Amino acid sequence: MSSVNNPFEKHLAALGVASPGQLQSLFAELRARLDSEAASVTDANSLKTFRDAWFGRKSGVLTLVGDNWLKPASAELKRSVGQELNKFKAHAQSVLTEKEASADSSGDSQSSLDLSLPGVIRPIGTHHLIRQVFQEIEDIFFSIGFSVVEGPEIETPYYNFEALNIPEHHPVRDDMDTFYLDLPKGAPGPLLLRTHTSPVQIRTMEKRHPPIRVIVPGKVYRRDNPDATHSFMFHQIEGLAVDSDITFCDFTGTIDYFVKQFFGESVKTRFRPSYFPFTEPSVEFDASCIFCGGTGTAKAGGTCGKCKGSGWIELFGAGMVDPAVYGFVNYDPKKVTGFAFGIGIDRLAMLKYGIDDIQVFFQNDVRFLNQFP
Ligand code: FA5
Repeated sequence: MSSVNNPFEKHLAALGVASPGQLQSLFAELRARLDSEAASVTDANSLKTFRDAWFGRKSGVLTLVGDNWLKPASAELKRSVGQELNKFKAHAQSVLTEKEASADSSGDSQSSLDLSLPGVIRPIGTHHLIRQVFQEIEDIFFSIGFSVVEGPEIETPYYNFEALNIPEHHPVRDDMDTFYLDLPKGAPGPLLLRTHTSPVQIRTMEKRHPPIRVIVPGKVYRRDNPDATHSFMFHQIEGLAVDSDITFCDFTGTIDYFVKQFFGESVKTRFRPSYFPFTEPSVEFDASCIFCGGTGTAKAGGTCGKCKGSGWIELFGAGMVDPAVYGFVNYDPKKVTGFAFGIGIDRLAMLKYGIDDIQVFFQNDVRFLNQFP
């Protein structure tokens, strides 16, 4: 090779190359240099060094030859430089391909592959227990002709309260005093995070005519302090059935069917008078305690801690739709009747799966979640 160490860093003129004959010997030297460096490629590391030195996109020898020899070559030499460079590139490429093939099949690259190492195990996630319980409940209601509707979590006081027969100064609002949104000046408001799924009763009746049989799964928000049975965000499923001839018997029969499907045939149900402004009459539904079988006595003896010895556990509120509500959705209360219920999903899941603290649903502790694959 020429006396200059790296001739490809100089232009041909600076190397004193002015004729095609000189050019050929210059490329011959380059080729000899490539072959000698290729001969010392023995493993993956030296192959990488070789590839970077000759084929590197920015400062590999092939790039430099193009930049320093070909591009600035004189008009007389340019054609010959191009031809020599193409020949040289083809040769260099075939040397590299050969070296890569032998590196692939060499024991060296295989020795880094330890087939006895365990693979990376990526556990497959499952549905959260709350989602599973939603699904169980939805399936039960699908089987008796209900379908799912959804509504917004951010509500107006009209849908959350007024249209449900809860006027502004009604004492019931105290329990549901809730999270109002800070809105920009001039924005239409007020808006709040819904405190129950009942507003979707109104939204559904506004859009549809009876017969209606829907359930409404969703998140709700209340200004309740967290403890074992309270969370400020929890889940409900609302139910609404409205038709021309729905009776209290249809109501209790439907609820009884649901509870038996969900908890098992041996569970007994009862309802007690209650009060909700949007149902009349209103009831609380209880199920016989699944922990003590309704006896009030714990299996190990003594009072059952879950039902506090009563043998009954309160499940959810419900009732026949108050005729006043139909006035808000332009239904004729003389022509339609219906029932509604609002199930607290988190507490229902706690009862069925023996969970004694609602907070575990929201802590994302994999040790808890793993128990409900
Ligand atoms: C209501 O929310 C009514 N909208 C239910 C209803 C619907 C009645 C249709 C009649 C007709 P209540 O405030 O009782 O009712 O709440 C219903 C259920 O939500 C309760 O039974 C309980 O299971 C659950 N719940 C209430 N507050 C919390 C809370 N802070 N954390 C977890 N669950 C709660």
